[in-house]
Amino acid sequence: MPTTGTETAHAAERPIVATVLIVDDEDSTRNLCRDVAIDSGLRARIASTTEQAMEILEQYPVDILITDLKVPQLGGIELLKRVRETYPQTAVMVLTQYGTIESAVEATRMGAADYVTKPFHVSELRAKLDRVVRSLEIDQENRVLREQLRTRPGFGGLIGVSPAMQRVYRLIEKVSQHKYPVLILGESGTGKELVARSIHFSGSRRNEPFVPVDCSALVPTLIESELFGYVKGAFTGAVQAKTGLMEAAGNGTLFLDEIGDLPVDLQAKLLRALQEKEVKPVGSTDRISVSTRIIAATNRDLDAAVRQGQFRQDLFFRLNVVQIKLPPLRERKSDIPILVNSFLEKFCDSKGNMRTISEDAMGRLISYDWPGNVRELENAIERAVALGSGPILHVGDLPSNLQCGAGERMPQSDELLPLDELERRAILRALREAGGDKLSAARLLGIGKTTLYRKLKQYEAASHAGPN
Ligand SMILES: Nc1ncnc2c1ncn2[C@@H]1O[C@H](COP(=O)(O)OP(=O)(O)OP(=O)(O)O)[C@@H](O)[C@H]1O
Ligand SMILES: [Mg+2]
Repeated sequence: MPTTGTETAHAAERPIVATVLIVDDEDSTRNLCRDVAIDSGLRARIASTTEQAMEILEQYPVDILITDLKVPQLGGIELLKRVRETYPQTAVMVLTQYGTIESAVEATRMGAADYVTKPFHVSELRAKLDRVVRSLEIDQENRVLREQLRTRPGFGGLIGVSPAMQRVYRLIEKVSQHKYPVLILGESGTGKELVARSIHFSGSRRNEPFVPVDCSALVPTLIESELFGYVKGAFTGAVQAKTGLMEAAGNGTLFLDEIGDLPVDLQAKLLRALQEKEVKPVGSTDRISVSTRIIAATNRDLDAAVRQGQFRQDLFFRLNVVQIKLPPLRERKSDIPILVNSFLEKFCDSKGNMRTISEDAMGRLISYDWPGNVRELENAIERAVALGSGPILHVGDLPSNLQCGAGERMPQSDELLPLDELERRAILRALREAGGDKLSAARLLGIGKTTLYRKLKQYEAASHAGPN
């Protein structure tokens, strides 16, 4: 696979597994460098020309570039210059022939981290490579520390202060500077589309188009013509040619949402388009070049889909260059208060008056499991703001499934329950709302205090009698 190089990943005891790209037209040097890199616990990719190297850099994250100075076509110095400009975080080491030390010095002046003179001893390369990796690790640790110092409540429209979300922000920041594919995984409503947008709009191509395609919403037969376009007369109804979304996205981002739902035959066509960076509009014999960045998302378990033969493994590898996994809301409950407050602000009334929420109601929101994640929380707050009265939202303003205590489920509206049971639930709920004050609870229910006492005694006796 000469255009993408060979990747070999090995487990390592390092905090980060750095990727090294080795660029040399001599097989022996390339292989030697690759072996040293892998032995040092790094990932290695190889290229034999500067053109291949640039292609790999465009598609994959590369932490360290080792290049020979005499490599075709552009030579190592020009490659170094381009890498410094476009990928400033990539460290560069150069390989130079014995007797051409001036060019190595020139390379260090231009920002190369180090150089090795050919022929070299494995131990020398290993030592220098280790030094570069260590300095990358220190850089990374410093970045993390700086990040922690300015812990952000949000990023690009995403709200959340939990460590899990902070990790997501850091990843977004990193990948937004590159063009390689990103795969976003997470349950429904966890913010996958928001993350995709945030990657696009915080990168340098933010002024290019962001084109979302919902693979689950399109009729399978239409996906191909939507993605790749069609020529006039390609099928009945194709009265004029239409540009496909992949071409329309230009230098921007094509967001393939619900990629797990893409039919298998289209997976093959998409893979081909991504590999060859070309699309063939339906009915056309010509191919059109495309250079769009791909971000894909799904709430399905793609690993399992691959195992079950429902999703092509080669396409999965192609899309899964960087993976961002969004944690479900129940695993980052520390984000709930800040999300609630931001939604209260978002749904304030036309005069800009923002509601607040009672401690009890906030407690309910925190203890609930949120199977629909942030979307469900956002909807719950919107509804509570619309239906609630008064400046403070109380438990009673929340959706009914949040109004019962832990372990007790409110009946669905179409669920038939014995009248006694409905009465018991109403009484317990009123007591909770009234904070245990029986007189207030009786008032809420519109019954007398003695009736309430009598009912409670009955429940107490029944619970002592044990389960029936
Ligand atoms: N971290 C967050 N901060 C603020 N709003 C969020 C966050 N995550 C999600 N949302 C909001 O929740 C809603 C759902 O988000 P989004 O559409 O990105 O989720 P999704 O993962 O793509 O869901 P689905 O799988 O159902 O398509 C949106 O209104 C979005 O603005
Ligand atoms: Mg979505």
